[in-house]
Amino acid sequence: MINIPKGTKDVLPSQSHVWQYIEDVSRVTAEGYGFREIRTPVFEHTELFSRGVGDTTDVVTKEMYTFLDKGGRSVTLRPEGTAGVARAFLENGLQGGVMPFKAYYVCSAYRYERPQAGRLREFHQFGAELYGAEGPEADAEVILLADALLKNLGLKNVKLKINSIGCPACRAKYYEALKAYFRPHLFEMCEDCNARFEKNPMRIIDCKNEACKKFTAGAPRAIEFLCDGCKAHFEKVKELLGEAGVPFEVDPSIVRGLDYYSRTVFEFTSEAAGAQGTVLGGGRYDGLLAQYGAKPTPAVGFAMGMERLLMVMEAEGAPMPEPPRPDCYLLGMDDASRKKAFLLAEELRKAGVSCETDLMARSVKAQFKYADKLGARYVVTIGENELAEGAAEVKNMDTSAAARVKFEALAQFMTGGEEDDQRNERA
Ligand code: HAM
Repeated sequence: MINIPKGTKDVLPSQSHVWQYIEDVSRVTAEGYGFREIRTPVFEHTELFSRGVGDTTDVVTKEMYTFLDKGGRSVTLRPEGTAGVARAFLENGLQGGVMPFKAYYVCSAYRYERPQAGRLREFHQFGAELYGAEGPEADAEVILLADALLKNLGLKNVKLKINSIGCPACRAKYYEALKAYFRPHLFEMCEDCNARFEKNPMRIIDCKNEACKKFTAGAPRAIEFLCDGCKAHFEKVKELLGEAGVPFEVDPSIVRGLDYYSRTVFEFTSEAAGAQGTVLGGGRYDGLLAQYGAKPTPAVGFAMGMERLLMVMEAEGAPMPEPPRPDCYLLGMDDASRKKAFLLAEELRKAGVSCETDLMARSVKAQFKYADKLGARYVVTIGENELAEGAAEVKNMDTSAAARVKFEALAQFMTGGEEDDQRNERA
């Protein structure tokens, strides 16, 4: 047998309704904030990610699924959704359209990481991106959307942590301070951190190597180096979140694992997500679109990991939807009745009643058992007498109430409240 690749998962028909529920709640929530769906390709030119996500990040240097296609072009399975949305925005000339531009996406993403609980090689994100608004209201609105999303999905114990990592202007001073701090320890730190030191010393703070972690804990924090503009921006974001009643903690250690961020960064974490505590992460990234050669366009967004979300929902006992049940099972007692059941089932489906009937020549008893397993609301039984009479025996499986219903009235009976009328008449 050929097995599933490491770090990937199947979603089976018995679980897909939970995924559909998460997607539906997410879509409705995002649309309430004016976001509309965008769909971009699963693979892009490699350069989109190396330039955008950053060539000092683990994602780009170690985790990308990159390959040459048959035309010899280097393409990469998207490790995240943001870069593709930025490309689509620019390529489709949306900079000239209505601002702010607000888009959400549900997508698979690929990172060659060591799989563990909450960390996969193929995972799914629900993300939202907002372009064109540079004020702190945009940061706050995006964070409020993220918060509403998690609340609407029934999570109660996620914590919002926010930070500001400044803009390129304050970053220069911060990098100097970081370099002064790390320089004496460089010979004890990993090769990657030595490379990061020159290119992007803030990445060192994110290093997972134990030898390096010893030094990162005491490193200077970006928040201590904010310029006046970044400080005022961050204060306003905090003020808006506070007044909107969204609790948060300022965590100066958040730097995020991707290079494009500036100013506000945030993460929603949960202890129930285990070692992979971040369920949702995002921030402002005013420099990204310009990096792709476009005119500078402010941007802010987030992505939620759907597998991690599901883990947390299960751990918190958040409400989950019931699996869908068919409205009806049509049971034929002999060959002629089975044929009638088969044809009636199709008529009922056309009238909007979901139904199943026997496809496996099962006995009456086995059909009842099957209908029960399906959780059918009604079992409609047809035998010799029913065929002659042109009416079926209908049993409501929730209440055990039984009724005789003409074949042509079945759809109305099951969808239009005729059952209640009949009960009233009898009473
Ligand atoms: P990220 O923090 O790299 O940010 O990923 C966002 C979320 O995706 C994480 O918080 C986590 O829940 C989930 N995630 C990441 N890697 C894995 C994995 N290997 N297995 C399972 N889940 C994972 C971004 O991707 C940014 N594009 C977010 C963003 C959008 N920032 C601005 N706009």
